[in-house]
Amino acid sequence: MNVLLVGGGGREHAIAWKIAQSPLLTKLWIAPGNPGTALHGENVEVKATDLDGIVALAQRIAADLVIVGPEDPLAAGLVDRLEAAGIAAFGPSGAAAQLEASKAFAKSLMRDANIATSSSATFDDAARATAYVHDVSHRVVVKADGLAAGKGVTVCDDVAQAEAAIDAAMRDRAFGAAGARVVIEERMFGRETSAHAFTDGVTVRHMPFSCDHKPVFDGDRGPNTGGMGAYSPPSWLPERVADAIRREVTERTVSALADAGTPYRGVIYPGMMLTADGPRVVEYNSRFGDPETEVLLPRLRSDLLAICDAVAHGRLAEVPVEWSDDATVGVIMVAPGYPGTYPTGAPIEGIEDVDDDVQVFLAGTARDAAGRLVTAGGRVLCVVASGKTVAEARERAYDNVKRISFEGAHYRTDIAARADEPLGVAAGR
Ligand code: GLY
Repeated sequence: MNVLLVGGGGREHAIAWKIAQSPLLTKLWIAPGNPGTALHGENVEVKATDLDGIVALAQRIAADLVIVGPEDPLAAGLVDRLEAAGIAAFGPSGAAAQLEASKAFAKSLMRDANIATSSSATFDDAARATAYVHDVSHRVVVKADGLAAGKGVTVCDDVAQAEAAIDAAMRDRAFGAAGARVVIEERMFGRETSAHAFTDGVTVRHMPFSCDHKPVFDGDRGPNTGGMGAYSPPSWLPERVADAIRREVTERTVSALADAGTPYRGVIYPGMMLTADGPRVVEYNSRFGDPETEVLLPRLRSDLLAICDAVAHGRLAEVPVEWSDDATVGVIMVAPGYPGTYPTGAPIEGIEDVDDDVQVFLAGTARDAAGRLVTAGGRVLCVVASGKTVAEARERAYDNVKRISFEGAHYRTDIAARADEPLGVAAGR
């Protein structure tokens, strides 16, 4: 098969690495890709958000399948455009991708389908939103309705913070059009986990659970990032709760979307919080998580390309989707200053020194004029190790992280450190 993978982050390097192992693959192209994806196929300089360019490229290479990584082209309708051109695509339609692209859409779907989430109200008017946060007695989270590159969510401790978040989104348009509408929800407390699944709109194949770490510093301090590391599985997650999430959230969401006439195909990823009142949806994502993909795909025993092709053609029930029992831990190395401003162009040393069975998935990286690997983004790379337990994988991941260096490199030292703490001990933190 000729395959085009759309995207250029660590997630896409992990997808490319796994797709390249498929006996079904003839050739892989990645648009735009990064130096990591270039190890597994041919990068083409077309932006993921250039829908015309992606469709033209897919036609030029006679793609049998296009796999779309990031949320923006999905929400903009790339899969619809490809299918209209007769090209099979892995990912939800623009209408189904609203599950991630509109928080108000997701809240309304959950209300109608009786899927547990926090109470919320949606506002198109800043004055009314401000009055609301004065009226309610609970703490709130203010969310820009649309896609805001992971930055549109403000978790508030008091009314002043909520007012500032409403002003930033609705009056100052800090997130552009995405903040013209806000969803204000009751703040939840508890431990978070990511519930990924493949679906073709009818069959659902659940992936193992995973957890990411968003704040930039140890102890969950500092601003949120795109993710500083991840692990799988969370042994603290009771099986009865995991099962409830699979049936009462993921599968119920897929059914509700089908019933609404917007069948969902691709990866569906509800972000969950385990509150004192039970598991609640924090948000949905309409794609593989990053960095969760980097720890999930090394656990996938089956052929990812066969799965993606089956999803695109509505025959997921026919292919095996099997997972290793091994645990995985991924540690992200970031540029100094991230998620604020940061330098680029620093040479990256030591990747050749990592163990053979440890993966280094590249994200914000480039080749300089001399062909050296240099930093080119905030999240630079993810080091992923496996083990019989999360503790073993964690020790191996950090042992290998220490062999890689670039000027000012920062990483958290506590990724997966609490992975073995029972739920009751960690609840509420
Ligand atoms: N890990 C969070 C995300 O992918 O959005």
